[in-house]
Amino acid sequence: MRETAVRATAPFSWNDTRATEAQDWGLMAQATSLPGTTDRRIAVLLTLLAENATIIISGARIAREIGVSRSTVWRWVERLRELGVRVKGQPRSGYFLEEVPDILTPDLLRKRMKGSLFGKRLYHFFKTDSTNRVAMELGYAGEPEGAVVLAEEQTAGRGRAGRRWHSERGTGIYVTLLLRPKLSPVLAPLLTMLAGLSSRAAIQAQSGLTVELKWPNDLLMNGAKLGGILTEMHAEPNLVRFVVIGLGINVNQQKFPPDITGLATSLRKESGKAHSRLELLVRLLTQFETDYNLFLREGPSYVVDRFQRESDFAQGKRVKVESGRETYFGKTDGLSPEGLLRVVKDDGQALTVIAGDVTEVR
Ligand code: BTN
Repeated sequence: MRETAVRATAPFSWNDTRATEAQDWGLMAQATSLPGTTDRRIAVLLTLLAENATIIISGARIAREIGVSRSTVWRWVERLRELGVRVKGQPRSGYFLEEVPDILTPDLLRKRMKGSLFGKRLYHFFKTDSTNRVAMELGYAGEPEGAVVLAEEQTAGRGRAGRRWHSERGTGIYVTLLLRPKLSPVLAPLLTMLAGLSSRAAIQAQSGLTVELKWPNDLLMNGAKLGGILTEMHAEPNLVRFVVIGLGINVNQQKFPPDITGLATSLRKESGKAHSRLELLVRLLTQFETDYNLFLREGPSYVVDRFQRESDFAQGKRVKVESGRETYFGKTDGLSPEGLLRVVKDDGQALTVIAGDVTEVR
């Protein structure tokens, strides 16, 4: 959990290169006008191509339906190609999709999340530095609870303890939720654990595989990292102003950079087949909304009890704890009522871990 100051820099995105044209047409907006979000009409172009995947659609028809010139359609198609979307054809013959891309377009997501807290304010980026950074900025700007920031790719994805989150284009889920719970900041870490529980349920329902939860924020499969959660907040001493919950889930990656090979895994690697990121995201958001409401109604014990039930790691595991000042070994001994991990050190001393890295040792 960390507090981040607002940065004045606009999120980097391919859309920035089209900024002048897009601003002339007032095209930037999804929920509010946030520089860099995916142009709504590009999303419409993608949906149009996806809904007619095997049919050649003429440039003229696309231009008419979206309300832009044919040369703009051509430029946007080129742009989609650069982003890895396999569009075949040319201006004279028309266009078609060679393969329906698994892109988390706000239009598709909005349809699936109708009536949900997370179906109203969607910010989609083909590329941004970090969805958590964008969501923090939105939070400071007064964005209401329920905003969802999504990226196909992050250039500076943030992980826990200042680490980087590997965010390859179009293969993982990189999403941040903005919440404004009336909570004491002391209880905010429970939201990280709650997001872990919801993610575990969603991934298991989609894949039929077992996800291990490692306190406080790790999702593991067969001991390797499948996903992680980074919660950041802006708070007063006794009250949370807003919290952003960033979730990174490795879905269709087939390989990872050398420094994390062997440590990281993906749903595709574990199950031997590709998974729809859209389906998983819909499950995840739906599950999290249910869980969040239960937490607000029932209080901290809802999260703490459920986490203790669902995480093998929380009880009786031999661990190494590396906190800022010291490193020690011991056994996990459940959670405190605030969700902190209890560890009994090898010398018998009982401690609660507030921050630091806890790893299982065998
Ligand atoms: C961890 O270290 O385990 C937490 C990783 C959290 C990564 C996600 S990806 C979406 C969101 N945006 C970020 O910059 N980080 C989080």
